[in-house]
Amino acid sequence: MTGRSTWLTAATVAALTLAAGPADARHPWSDPRLSPDQRARLVVRTMTHDEKFQLIRSQFAIPEAVKKLPLPPGAIVSVGHVPGIARLGIPALRATDAGQGVTQPGRRPKDEGATALPSGLAIAASWDLRVAAAGGAMIADEARYKGFNVLLAGGVNLMRDPRNGRSFEYAGEDPLLAGRMVGESIRAIQGRQVLSTVKHFALNDQETARTSIDVRIGEQAMHESDLLAFRLAIERGRPGAVMCAYNRVNGDYACEHDQLLNRVLKRDWGYPGFVMSDWGAVHSAAKAASAGLDQQSAGETFDDQVYFDEPLRRALQAGELPAQRLDDMVRRILRSLFATGLYDHPVDGPSSHRPPDVKANLAVARAALEAGAVLLRNERGLLPLTARDGAIAVIGRHIDKGVLAGGGSSLVRPRGGNAVPGIEPTGWPGPVLYDPNPPLQAIRDQGATIAFHDGRDVDAAARLARNSHTAVVFVEKWATESVDSPDLTLPDRQDALVSAVAQANPRTVVVVVNNGPVAMPWLEQVGAVLVGWYPGSAGSEAIANLLFGKVSPSGRLPFTWPRDLSQLPRPVLEGAGQQAPAPMPVSVDYDIEGADVGYRWFQRTERQALFPFGYGLTYTTFARQASQVLWVRSAPQLTVTVRNTGTRAAADVVQVYAAVPGVSARRLAGFAKTATLRPGARQTLSVALEPRLLARYDVTARRFTMPAGRYQLFVGRSATDLDPPQTVTLSAPRPLRH
Ligand code: BGC
Repeated sequence: MTGRSTWLTAATVAALTLAAGPADARHPWSDPRLSPDQRARLVVRTMTHDEKFQLIRSQFAIPEAVKKLPLPPGAIVSVGHVPGIARLGIPALRATDAGQGVTQPGRRPKDEGATALPSGLAIAASWDLRVAAAGGAMIADEARYKGFNVLLAGGVNLMRDPRNGRSFEYAGEDPLLAGRMVGESIRAIQGRQVLSTVKHFALNDQETARTSIDVRIGEQAMHESDLLAFRLAIERGRPGAVMCAYNRVNGDYACEHDQLLNRVLKRDWGYPGFVMSDWGAVHSAAKAASAGLDQQSAGETFDDQVYFDEPLRRALQAGELPAQRLDDMVRRILRSLFATGLYDHPVDGPSSHRPPDVKANLAVARAALEAGAVLLRNERGLLPLTARDGAIAVIGRHIDKGVLAGGGSSLVRPRGGNAVPGIEPTGWPGPVLYDPNPPLQAIRDQGATIAFHDGRDVDAAARLARNSHTAVVFVEKWATESVDSPDLTLPDRQDALVSAVAQANPRTVVVVVNNGPVAMPWLEQVGAVLVGWYPGSAGSEAIANLLFGKVSPSGRLPFTWPRDLSQLPRPVLEGAGQQAPAPMPVSVDYDIEGADVGYRWFQRTERQALFPFGYGLTYTTFARQASQVLWVRSAPQLTVTVRNTGTRAAADVVQVYAAVPGVSARRLAGFAKTATLRPGARQTLSVALEPRLLARYDVTARRFTMPAGRYQLFVGRSATDLDPPQTVTLSAPRPLRH
């Protein structure tokens, strides 16, 4: 295209936009040329008191659940419904969970189901922003089709404890990896004009006593860990809402936390959107609203009161809350409606009714696990398998029917329903659900001769393994929201099963279907271990493709895999495995590790993990060459050339760790993933380092500063497998803008 025709095109577009003007003269805020702030202000100015109150609370719209309240008028089946205001053209807000896929049927029949991505940890383990983006866009499309314009996605709580029952919803232990990956998925969701949250703000890093526990942590430590993950996710994804958490932080509930909500989030970070509460996380009216909470979620069902109705009206009347604050709450909510495009692209429009391309969506889910499954062990090149080698014994519970999913509010009801219904708990925090996507069939589809055993009779399974060329054993551990696991042990004698099978046949491959790390007492006995996470709707095909080498593994652990619980900052997690009303701990001390979550704690205390953060094997070899460090816009940048020196196509992850003057442990400061490289192929990656990972948070100045001194930058294959460092020196401290 010539320069002139480009100019003409741009001018035409501008003219058309100008001609468009406000779509509706009665609603000047419908003019897309105005900024989201201007549009929101215009609406607020014309709203009645009652209309304002209508926007600052949502209702739970699942008639058969919890209190069995009727469906609110105009609602679809959803976890959060805010009625629209027809007079002003403001659409209803219709919210569903969450990050792995759409959990609620919305306006579609329940049995229609949805596509489940593999777990959040699998996405994080891909270390690939493209994977996060593809997943986000896919679930947003399905959400729109079901009538939703709000997705309660964006879980970015750090993995401080591998027993956390919700680890699978999050993105691991590192603030940079988690913040970027989750931020990218939020960006993609909102790119489809579906408003996303980021959650649970903040420090909701365990489920035990989650609605009451007081998390104790110093200010610098929280800014250099959990808050940094949120901040990076918010900067990248610009979520319309931040969901405040259940727990307390240093004494105050997170949803009435002036420091976290008003001072850090809204003032220091300049967050322009709104804060919505988690479901049952509100304990006050004026206090919460004054501290920065803008919308109460499902209060009639989950809180003691609908605080953001009568109690807040009374507080306003009594002057306990200034009237401007109510306007600010409403303005923030409306601003997000405009900023995310939700207002301009109503979910009731015809494009939302186009049924999803199920095949394409399953391909997104499959590709996500192909990129995120982690190969932990592969002795003597046992993997990949070949269909011609001989009979394969495929062993494991229910793998002829389906594959396990994590439980709780994020559970996606798959098309075809639960493949193994009836396992306890069948109600909250369950049901235990198996996605009808059986690994057995996926392995059979690779053309191998296979024999199946469910593994209940250990001796019989071992006999089958002995008479087979190779054995593939699936082990699994269910986890769910609201309860942590008391240990890392695989349930139901699965350790005995693996040991017996491995003893019978050393060519034993173990596929782990898991929340987070599990104990593997049989590790040295088996030939290979592949981490398949909760695989989702197309995960079994992904696992089969990886086992048979159609795709080479390229996932890297997004957390440290400990040898045992004694290595953790809190070897005992008081109350784990229990739920209230059982006796619950009152507080938890996160200052033990502070900002040194996961691999940093292991480095600081000189502990050897079973597998370090960032670890993962593949079927080929790579050579890397790093350039000298360059300073680009005051941030260091490395250029790394990766060459596939082996015999199979695969992708590689470049990780850059930084030793910062005065900081006790190295930190991941940058990363990038190559495309799939054919043997002999090379790719050059620019890895920009995030300055805040090279800095300390200055509590007094309320911003990050890079200390003066010598920095060492390591290109690594994991947090502990590092090339010799390059050194850069800063002669004077450098305060950062943020
Ligand atoms: C969870 C949130 C979820 C909400 C709505 C809560 O129990 O903590 O993550 O979005 O329920 O289902």
